[in-house]
Amino acid sequence: MKKKIAVLPGDGIGPEIIEQAVSVLKSVASKYGHEFTFEYGSVGACAIDECGDPFPQKTYELCKNSDAVLFGAIGDPKYDNNPKSKVRPEQGLLKMRKSLGLFANLRPIEPFDKLSGRSPLKDEIVKGASLIIVRELTGGLYFGEPRGRSESGDKAFDTCIYSRGEIERVARKAFELAKGRKNHVTLVDKANVIATSRLWREVVTDIHEREYSSVTLDFMFVDNAAMKLVTDPRFFDIVLTENLFGDILSDEASVITGSIGLLPSASVGSEISLFEPIHGSFPQAKGKHIADPIATILSAAMLLDISFGLKKEADAVRNACSMAIEKDMVTPEIAEDGKGRTTEQVGEYIAANI
Ligand code: IPM
Ligand code: MN
Repeated sequence: MKKKIAVLPGDGIGPEIIEQAVSVLKSVASKYGHEFTFEYGSVGACAIDECGDPFPQKTYELCKNSDAVLFGAIGDPKYDNNPKSKVRPEQGLLKMRKSLGLFANLRPIEPFDKLSGRSPLKDEIVKGASLIIVRELTGGLYFGEPRGRSESGDKAFDTCIYSRGEIERVARKAFELAKGRKNHVTLVDKANVIATSRLWREVVTDIHEREYSSVTLDFMFVDNAAMKLVTDPRFFDIVLTENLFGDILSDEASVITGSIGLLPSASVGSEISLFEPIHGSFPQAKGKHIADPIATILSAAMLLDISFGLKKEADAVRNACSMAIEKDMVTPEIAEDGKGRTTEQVGEYIAANI
């Protein structure tokens, strides 16, 4: 198979972890006889420094002309504490999601048995948990207009807005995913307070009745879901939710696996899809060789699976990651021996074991 992959390393630890994922993909290509070409583009703070735009047109075109996008992370502390800065790296991420039409963000939470002791949650709670958060990614409070400040500056406002169409397309993704799993979708919302949540319930119920009545559908308020995720994560199969709730719940759910450095994600749309670790740019770790590349490598596995339909290859990548974890070939944060390996050593080990 011949494919072109757009690679956007971004900021902080982005370039280090991306490099490892690219070398794993190269190993897959040579082992299974594929031809992957990699073309690099800039995004985030480094793109602002280069050309003033956190998601330049050139990068947009590169993504549009590729078969899939592999992305590292965005964000730089020099912008975080400056509320007055006009462009922020995160705007690049949002522009990228919106302009590429990446409306569904899939965040699978699969704990590794070996690491169950690493989770702050008890073994008996996390053991056997397996869920996917399906987060709506191009609507809600993140994009709603109007937003901003009142003239006097002492009031600020955001708008949460969703249309039937936006809810339907992401709900379909959730139901489709459920069919290959435990057949259970939980819609997480705040329908007791928020109008958009009531529309979500209405639309999801309609689609369920019309197209997916064989899937079990239930509803949960987000505050209750936040508690249930850490007290009884096995309850969940597919969590379907809007943009901001999905953002918060997916960080929370990362404690189930014991490390946010292990969680991949896929952002899918009607054309191109993008794959990225759910963690951020971790600027404190930049250049220290301690960043865990596994979340990014598992994102590359999702890329093989979802964008290219290469299931066998994707499984080979996942197995090599599990092997690294089994053999304690992991970065210091999760290493049993207390020392751990470098980002590069972990990546090389996984690439060598495809
Ligand atoms: C994420 C991140 C982003 C988000 C930030 C960096 C804008 O937290 O991908 O979850 O809020 O979506
Ligand atoms: Mn987030």
